[in-house]
Amino acid sequence: MSHPLKLTLTRCYRFSASHRLHSPRFTEEQNRDLYGKCSNPYGHGHNYTVEVTVGGPIDPETGMIANLGELDPFVEREVIEPFDQKYLNEEIPEFQDVVPTTENLCREIYRRLKSFPAARLERVRVEETSNNSFEYGG
Ligand code: NI
Repeated sequence: MSHPLKLTLTRCYRFSASHRLHSPRFTEEQNRDLYGKCSNPYGHGHNYTVEVTVGGPIDPETGMIANLGELDPFVEREVIEPFDQKYLNEEIPEFQDVVPTTENLCREIYRRLKSFPAARLERVRVEETSNNSFEYGG
């Protein structure tokens, strides 16, 4: 018996948000040493790009892994809508006690998208700037 053909689908989304890299575990001076200007008390913004990869067999009826008509509103509802134009440190409950580095942001986005019902979530990649990106696959 042949294995079903397995492919992945990657879709890009974008949102803008601000954050401050600052941990209450460290003193102001330690925070400045550790995070540099990213620890500026008034925060700073990024235009984030999120790549969401889902995988699974091709549905023989539709010829697709997952319908973008289902994926787009799911990502929109779980991530883009709650995160866009927000101050992550204060407006996202998960970052009240967790420093919103892009590493942690990537993990949180993965956690929020894990329950996508129509295909398996394979990977989330978050690009913070054209020089930095982070990837999490669970
Ligand atoms: Ni930053």
